[in-house]
Amino acid sequence: MTIKYYGHSCFGIEIDGKHLLFDPFISGNGLAKDVDIESIPCDFMLISHGHADHIADAEAIAKRTGCKVICAFEIHTWLNGKGVTNTHPMNTGGSWNFDFGRVKCVVAHHSSSLPDGTYAGNPMGFVIDSTEGCFYFAGDTALTLDMQLIPMICPPLGFAILPIGSNFTMDYNDAVIAADFIHCDTIIGCHYDTFGYIKIDHEAAVKAFEAENKELILPSIGGELQFG
Ligand code: NI
Ligand code: MN
Repeated sequence: MTIKYYGHSCFGIEIDGKHLLFDPFISGNGLAKDVDIESIPCDFMLISHGHADHIADAEAIAKRTGCKVICAFEIHTWLNGKGVTNTHPMNTGGSWNFDFGRVKCVVAHHSSSLPDGTYAGNPMGFVIDSTEGCFYFAGDTALTLDMQLIPMICPPLGFAILPIGSNFTMDYNDAVIAADFIHCDTIIGCHYDTFGYIKIDHEAAVKAFEAENKELILPSIGGELQFG
């Protein structure tokens, strides 16, 4: 499994030759100015919630690639109204088998509205179970006891992508506890540094995980990781 980081909460993950793209927000992110949006491959787009810092580039990339967009029912309806019609509506608790594997939508404790104010349904996290392994993309969320359900209802996680920037989501200390809740010691951090509110001390964040014998990976924007 190849993971490419496009900044903030945007990740491209290749599974069995299929390109998944999570939470596309690139054009509005000064830290990601060197990412060429036009060349990002996308077969399946997964959107955790409607906030602009997760959906800003969704319409343009979906129209360029013709990808299938997996998102909350309300976001599916909103995208359909914009002419993005290859969508798959889901909601918290549901799962579905796609070409690349099974997507299970799990609880995210956050809010969700679209950039024009339209109600966007529940925010969600995703657990992706594929032939190349299982992982959890948390979206924007607080630390929540619901995370304890994930090891009970999903296969063991190879890694998890968790927000660590505080202010709008949990911070890295809470993310250490989240890693315990989900029984996963390899965490990729996201949702930090993009704005003034969420700037973090990288060294302190990595040490907080090390102190609990866990690994926090802070990928560089445009960089690639390999798993499995
Ligand atoms: Ni948000
Ligand atoms: Mn956000």
